[in-house]
Amino acid sequence: MSGPPEPSAAATTVLTLRQKKVRGERITALTAYDYPTARLLDAAGIDVLLVGDSLAMVVLGHETTLPVTMDEMLHHARAVARGAKRALLVGDMPFLSYQAETAEAVRNAGRFLQAGMHAVKLEGGRDFAPTVRAVVRAGIPVMGHVGLLPQSVRRLGGFRPQARTAESARAVLDDALALEAEGAFAVVLESVPEKVAAAITERLQVPTIGIGAGPGTDGQVLVIHDLLGLHDAVPRFVRQYARLGEEVVRAASDFRADVESGRFPSSEHAPPMSEEEWGAFLAALGPQPARPPGR
Ligand code: KIV
Repeated sequence: MSGPPEPSAAATTVLTLRQKKVRGERITALTAYDYPTARLLDAAGIDVLLVGDSLAMVVLGHETTLPVTMDEMLHHARAVARGAKRALLVGDMPFLSYQAETAEAVRNAGRFLQAGMHAVKLEGGRDFAPTVRAVVRAGIPVMGHVGLLPQSVRRLGGFRPQARTAESARAVLDDALALEAEGAFAVVLESVPEKVAAAITERLQVPTIGIGAGPGTDGQVLVIHDLLGLHDAVPRFVRQYARLGEEVVRAASDFRADVESGRFPSSEHAPPMSEEEWGAFLAALGPQPARPPGR
């Protein structure tokens, strides 16, 4: 039986995730971009809330994750931090916040911690090993991300599955091992065959968190809008646990019909006023002025 966590449940840390891997317990992660969602997912006992750069697509309506800025990410990170009490909070470093200069990467990662996040995630393998080392050395936990890298969508020619040949599977494994060696506390494996994801998971001491990578990883992450059915287009690897989009359209249509027909609001939807005060108000108004014609 699943249910909400004990009210006394301890806050999740990077060590908790490592212990879960050692004990063979699965890790749960979901994206969150705002205060109410963070509260609800925290109450559901989700281990990790990721303020993902998928914000660009599912909240801001862009076609890729590339346009979202550090300032936009921090705005949402602060809201999530206000809503969550127990989950480990991870801020996703957006495009161009860490690629150009290592010092800039450290500074931007630090801004996420100042905004209430506990860790950051960044996309990239061996090429970003020095960046991961520098951020970890600054005391900031880093979650790696290999396989499909949405910020490289233009180079990849689309959101394409990765590691489908022996050579590219080896490259993704080497990327994951390099991130672990530099101190990453977990690694996201996105859109790689399940056998490859399981083989990487066996070879890493730190937990792997899969998305579109099958059941053999230590944990799973999904974009909350996909899980809740707030979209029409949902990636193949997603299981929808609700169809809230349909519910929202139904509720908004019912509201429209009620307002247009006069069924909402009714007198209980406004504050009461005593007859005495109403009489005094009318008396103070004096006689009603005549309306100009046509109004
Ligand atoms: O931005 C995001 O939502 C992500 C997850 C899909 C891993 O990076």
